[in-house]
Amino acid sequence: MKLIIPENIQKIEPYKPGKTQAELEREYGISRSVKIASNESPYAPSARIVKAITDAVTGLNRYPDAACHDLVETIALKYGVQKESVVVGNGSNDLIDFLVKTFIEKGDEVITSHPSFLMYQKFVQVRGGINHIIPLKDMRHDLTSIVNNINDKTRLIFIDNPNNPTGTTISPRDLYVFLSTIPEHVIVVIDEAYADFMDEELRPDAASLINNTNKRCPVVFLRTFSKAYGLAGLRVGYGLMNYELAACLHKVRQPFTVNTFAQIGAKVALEDEEHYLSILQKNRDGIRYLYKELQKLGCTAYPTQGNFILVDIKGDADKLYKTLLRKGFIIRSMRAYGFPSCIRVTVGTEAENSSFINNLEKSLGELGYGNN
Ligand SMILES: Cc1ncc(COP(=O)(O)O)c(C=O)c1O
Repeated sequence: MKLIIPENIQKIEPYKPGKTQAELEREYGISRSVKIASNESPYAPSARIVKAITDAVTGLNRYPDAACHDLVETIALKYGVQKESVVVGNGSNDLIDFLVKTFIEKGDEVITSHPSFLMYQKFVQVRGGINHIIPLKDMRHDLTSIVNNINDKTRLIFIDNPNNPTGTTISPRDLYVFLSTIPEHVIVVIDEAYADFMDEELRPDAASLINNTNKRCPVVFLRTFSKAYGLAGLRVGYGLMNYELAACLHKVRQPFTVNTFAQIGAKVALEDEEHYLSILQKNRDGIRYLYKELQKLGCTAYPTQGNFILVDIKGDADKLYKTLLRKGFIIRSMRAYGFPSCIRVTVGTEAENSSFINNLEKSLGELGYGNN
């Protein structure tokens, strides 16, 4: 075999998802591990969602609805936008892919921050685009530096708000000022994967921003069912955008990218307000508990508006990662993100949080970190 691999593809480092519980349990011969590494919801879907998905099994001989009609209608109603402004995909990752495929040609430029969600840069590499990576400033997107790096070749700017992994946000006022300085040829993508967890007053008005594009840059908001809606395994996400932009994405996407279960499960999840609100409340309770306990252990927990916390353990994060693995806990070391003494921990159930704190205390003790 003589493969000819394009140079841009050769340079790509494959995305490393967090270790799965099954993998850990096989490797270490343990059971009942806890995964708090990928910012998933620790709660199973509600009975209502499970029933809707189960009921759909007998229809699997048919392709899914390519237009995702019912789900799109529910999303549009909830956010007060036109149906034509909604594009659904196989996770919000799919939307990032559509945007880059649609608007980036070889040599075009895309601005992202570091650290932030790693997939933006990978999709750009696949297209032969150029990544301009701006370091965070004081754990936040450096909006001034982002603006200063725009040029005629810039096509897209990706901003995750809240930022993964720091949990920081941009105030709506700062965002509006920022958008007012962006040239009309640049599309600003606000990735709101964790926006459900944000305080209400911090959320920008997506409906007005996507429609009001007269003499201003287009803005796209990305949302997902993988986090607050607890449906990471179904793979559903969507984008809200001006309908002209949406029409371009529809040209590029595959027709049946969102499967039947995903369309049905996501629609019911949007309607199951009680389940959704209870998850948000439990997340807030979990954050309060973890902050208090992490402080007692001598760690610095950064304030977060997401369902995860960036924690400075004042030691080697990779070593702590391995020590916790042996105890059955999967967390994320933030070394690869440029924070070698930090870990990122997803908020778990009450039992998971307290068991994590106990095992963290033991692990910090073994390594001589924290208060030890
Ligand atoms: C900031 C951010 N955006 C997007 C995603 C992708 O989410 P999904 O493809 O599951 O919708 C993630 C996943 O962790 C994320 O952290």
